[in-house]
Amino acid sequence: MSIKVLFAASDTDWQAYRTSLRTALDDAGLDATLARVLPPDEVDYIVYAPSGGLRDFTPYTRCKAVMSLWAGVETIVGNETLTMPLTRMVDPGLTEGMVEWVTGHVLRLHLNIDHALARQDGRWDRHVPPLARDRPVTILGLGELGHACAKALSSLNFPVSGWSRSAKDIPDVRTYAGPEGLRAALSSAEILVLLLPDTPKTVDILDATALAMLPQGAMIINPGRGTLIDDVALLEALDRDHVAQATLDVFRIEPLPVEHPFWAHPKVTVTPHIASETRPVSAARVIAENMRNCEAGLPLEHLVDRGKGY
Ligand SMILES: NC(=O)c1ccc[n+]([C@@H]2O[C@H](COP(=O)([O-])OP(=O)(O)OC[C@H]3O[C@@H](n4cnc5c(N)ncnc54)[C@H](OP(=O)(O)O)[C@@H]3O)[C@@H](O)[C@H]2O)c1
Repeated sequence: MSIKVLFAASDTDWQAYRTSLRTALDDAGLDATLARVLPPDEVDYIVYAPSGGLRDFTPYTRCKAVMSLWAGVETIVGNETLTMPLTRMVDPGLTEGMVEWVTGHVLRLHLNIDHALARQDGRWDRHVPPLARDRPVTILGLGELGHACAKALSSLNFPVSGWSRSAKDIPDVRTYAGPEGLRAALSSAEILVLLLPDTPKTVDILDATALAMLPQGAMIINPGRGTLIDDVALLEALDRDHVAQATLDVFRIEPLPVEHPFWAHPKVTVTPHIASETRPVSAARVIAENMRNCEAGLPLEHLVDRGKGY
């Protein structure tokens, strides 16, 4: 049985994915037409990214699933024309990239590497960093990415705590759940990593009240979403030295406007939403295998829960 797959993402994405997707569909044994333009009522699956501009899903009357190329689905999850199932990206390559980025920045802050880089001035100024075992790290969000980062940091001896909506049991990680667990998760966080999705419940989760729960001198790493942090409250916490450093990869407005105070702030490191990317080869395989399962009558994997928003 032949299926029709619409690729609804940008020109750049098409260049990156067309070969990998074609190969993955063939490898999955699917007799599939893959195209950027198809009659809407003939489309079986939509491979989607917000960059493609598709907003009205109403004409796709026989579409069995919209498959997001992005892990974060905040821009599409509330779309009322989207009546078909929505899956989000869970890609081994994306997870691997995030683990490397988070581990790299945690080690950078833990070892105070910025200080060494800034002090190449002839002064024999010895600052011996503590061991990882003495540097508690907390991760907000223990999903695909947070869980993998927690495991990696724990394997480096950091005492890791994590917080999620539902209770978790992860070896060597102290876990907290629900609104009542947030204070405990934050209170020990010398380094805090944000890996929550952008939902109505997580917007401004790191507001002035939550920032005050962090220990004095805490450092923050946000590869999650810009909406998780109240920017003004963070700037205030940095300026009164309650927070020592913020490494931010995601922002409420992207690209981060040049006049935004984060760019010039001496205690803020800005990176341009590069913590991790979906990798075309592994992601295409995930998408094709999900289509094959669906065609075989098996449940779709990585389904987004519309009620929860992620
Ligand atoms: N910067 C980048 O390059 C980049 C790349 C990829 C992804 N991201 C971001 O990373 C986010 C996380 O990705 P993921 O794949 O790990 O997502 P995920 O598997 O859906 O995990 C989300 C985690 O957040 C928790 N959570 C959600 N709402 C919560 C709430 N109200 N209170 C407490 N915990 C809550 C979930 O709890 P439960 O486990 O109980 O459901 C889960 O542990 C994405 O949504 C995206 O925004 C950024």
